[in-house]
Amino acid sequence: MAILRFPDSGLSIEAEPEIRAALAAQGIDYARWPLDRVPADSSADLVLDAYRDEIDEMKQRGGYVTADVIDVGPSTPNLDAMLAKFDKEHTHSEDEVRFILSGRGIFFLALEQGVASVEVHAGDLLRVPRGTRHWFTLCADRRIRAIRWFQETSGWTPHYTNSGLETGYQPLCFGPAYLGLRTTTKISA
Ligand SMILES: [Fe+2]
Repeated sequence: MAILRFPDSGLSIEAEPEIRAALAAQGIDYARWPLDRVPADSSADLVLDAYRDEIDEMKQRGGYVTADVIDVGPSTPNLDAMLAKFDKEHTHSEDEVRFILSGRGIFFLALEQGVASVEVHAGDLLRVPRGTRHWFTLCADRRIRAIRWFQETSGWTPHYTNSGLETGYQPLCFGPAYLGLRTTTKISA
């Protein structure tokens, strides 16, 4: 289940209908899909087969022509370089559509009324419309597996805004380990 946060006000929402309604008001689709189709470690082909109906319906709805499975983790070559492409505010000329199969990540959305973050977990579907200013990063476990849809694969490149907005927002999905690191300072008597 996702967590929707508004960091500037401290508000967070963890209930599906409220998350869906709040994001829909901004033109962003959020939904929960079942995870019981295939084991989490199934091959990409098996995953795409298992979700064929949903994938095709989404293609029709958004004009997407292709879908694939992205699978990244700590051992992914050049993971830092890959993440660095997307952790600065940018837009795309096509929608960014993700169904999370496993792992976690956090989308920051620069909306008219302020910045919102959506921490996505397994079973979450998020569709960020083209032109939406956003950035994305992984959580502390640095692992995510997701189905992606594309209107044209060549169009899915980041257009950076160079606003620097992302520097004011910490990913809050680092979890207890991260908080622990920040509070382990020992003061000698
Ligand atoms: Fe993006």
